[in-house]
Amino acid sequence: MHISSINNIQSSNKFNPHFTSCTRIYKPETVTNKNIFSTDTVRTTSNIFRYDEDWNFLMEYIMWNFVGIDKVNIYSLGCSDGSEAYTYAMYIYDKLPENLLKKYTPIFACDIDSEIIKAAKSGKINLSKYDIDNINIHLKHGKNYIKEKKGILKIKNNITTNEKAYEIIPEIRKMVEFKQSDILTELKKIEDEGNSVINIRNVFPYMSEKYANEVLETLAQKLKSGSIFVFGHYDHRIPNFRQRLHDLGFYSPVQNGNFVQKI
Ligand SMILES: C[S@@+](CC[C@H](N)C(=O)[O-])C[C@H]1O[C@@H](n2cnc3c(N)ncnc32)[C@H](O)[C@@H]1O
Repeated sequence: MHISSINNIQSSNKFNPHFTSCTRIYKPETVTNKNIFSTDTVRTTSNIFRYDEDWNFLMEYIMWNFVGIDKVNIYSLGCSDGSEAYTYAMYIYDKLPENLLKKYTPIFACDIDSEIIKAAKSGKINLSKYDIDNINIHLKHGKNYIKEKKGILKIKNNITTNEKAYEIIPEIRKMVEFKQSDILTELKKIEDEGNSVINIRNVFPYMSEKYANEVLETLAQKLKSGSIFVFGHYDHRIPNFRQRLHDLGFYSPVQNGNFVQKI
């Protein structure tokens, strides 16, 4: 573990309240050997209703876009502790009638990191006050979907301190399937019919150039017209990220939104 990197993260926590949840740092020897990561430290930072997306807008766009389609497949690839997948699951559970839940579930979520996926699979999650506020801002019945537990969920190398453990209620848990796997492997398995929402958010800066290029090309090959690819604020660190997506056959329905749609 690199002490200087930890110091950097700790000082960024002090200044950026959005960067507190689920911050873990580790040296992923196994994946470095596979040439997946370009750096030797990776953060599993994530939040429920992470600030870089207008979730109400995105979810309404998704629901209108897929009106008349029986099944929509949502993927959270590089899912960290499950925050992203639970954002979708809670939103869908909160807003839609029971007979429509099956249309959007199960949500498929994977992460390459064995420790964080173990945490995600536990059905528990560490949440800060910021996460709780986000849940309550976005959802009418949000407080009913999590139950406070004693202490904090132990995750190896977790360096955050301002969180508490919560249990996700079974109705929401069963909407998500977690698996330890890497993005490219899972992407190659997708059989899309123009009915997918693929989230690969805030992961690209951790990939080697070769791996990132292959992910983008596979996305372009696999997704058919109408499917949606959602990325994150952090991914704009990749030079000309949006332009590259446009060159690969995606367009931006919203000028600065962090999602694109296959033409
Ligand atoms: C910064 S977090 C982003 C989590 C979530 N997508 C979000 O935006 O809040 C990056 C996550 O991607 C995972 N990751 C990095 N490279 C990956 C790969 N090639 N395949 C699967 N997961 C990967 C890391 O283990 C980490 O949990």
